[in-house]
Amino acid sequence: MALKPSRGTLLWGRRVHVWAGGVQWPQMPAHQPGNGGLTVEPINIAEYEAMAYEKLPHDAWEYYIGGSDDELTLRANRDAFARIRLRPRVLVDVSHISLETTVLGAHVRTPLLVAPMAYHGFAHVECECETVRGVGAAGTLMTVSTMANRPLEEVAADASGPLWFQLYVYRDRNVSEQLVRRAEAAGYRALVLTVDTPRLSRREREIRMGFGLPPHLHTANFEGAAREQPGQTPGASGLAVYATALLDSSLTWEALDWLRSVTSLPIVVKGVVTAEDAALAVEHGAQGIIVSNHGGRQLDGTVATIEALPEVVAAANGRVEVYLDGGIRRGTDALKALALGARAVLVGRPVLWGLAANGQQGVTRVLELLGAELELAMALAGAPSLAALTPALVRLPG
Ligand code: GLV
Repeated sequence: MALKPSRGTLLWGRRVHVWAGGVQWPQMPAHQPGNGGLTVEPINIAEYEAMAYEKLPHDAWEYYIGGSDDELTLRANRDAFARIRLRPRVLVDVSHISLETTVLGAHVRTPLLVAPMAYHGFAHVECECETVRGVGAAGTLMTVSTMANRPLEEVAADASGPLWFQLYVYRDRNVSEQLVRRAEAAGYRALVLTVDTPRLSRREREIRMGFGLPPHLHTANFEGAAREQPGQTPGASGLAVYATALLDSSLTWEALDWLRSVTSLPIVVKGVVTAEDAALAVEHGAQGIIVSNHGGRQLDGTVATIEALPEVVAAANGRVEVYLDGGIRRGTDALKALALGARAVLVGRPVLWGLAANGQQGVTRVLELLGAELELAMALAGAPSLAALTPALVRLPG
């Protein structure tokens, strides 16, 4: 099979060439079975990432992969997982392992949920509708972003699993309230209020590109409402311009009270990394907290999410469910978060890599790969159920 011309990318120090059929490892011995080269399906998230890099337009790649300022927090999310060591137990019957659980009462086949992310349209022509089909096949829950490229109703129509809807509070609260009404009517199970974005951070990759939506993509939840959308803006991030114009930077915890007054859906607060804010979220009636630093895309230098998790879990003290996102790339990352008290974890960028690489099958495969890694890690850790994942399984650094 001929290798399609490819930029190639460095993966674990090797230059890897990727095309639609799989990953080509040019250094593989020529006597491998096959006709001179080895074609393999991606077998981990890093390989999906390499494939997505090849397939995505450069500006989409830069937008998806990037973090703020020096990307310290982006890297910290990963590095912090690597610093945590495991304390596996042995001679435990692990012949049956179940990953099934519930989140806010909704049944899911795995504690790997999908994080809200804007603009799936860069990765697939069917946008979030394609993603949600893949997520449904994996038996889990997807959080749909306000900044989706398909209207929330269309995404719901293609869903076979539970959905949450991510929400910003706009300066014009009617805008947010309309979204709430539509999410309720479309059967979303909870609202995920993002609280770490009073303004957008400085993302130099976006500024360099003048990042914004090309003419064929839209912030589809606002179509018809004559809403502005992030345009391509030379020398600036169109998204930052959009956020400054439309999002309410004067927001306080009162916004959570307001949101509760307009809906009976449970509210999950996303973007908490301290015990103080966890306590306030509970006090103001949140039913879930997502320990998140926006995938390293907001305040650079923020603590890694896995480092923040223990204090948030302690402050929540069993009163609300606590979840985590940021840097989950292996089943063992999820294992560490679950052991430290997360009810579930949310996977972000890897889902986009699966979507870009192979549409809904890619999404399903990414979630299944991580699920299989988690299941194996549980077996090797002597933990046959999610309930058996406790802090005794981990040794925190220093
Ligand atoms: C949007 O929330 C983003 O992080 O780009």
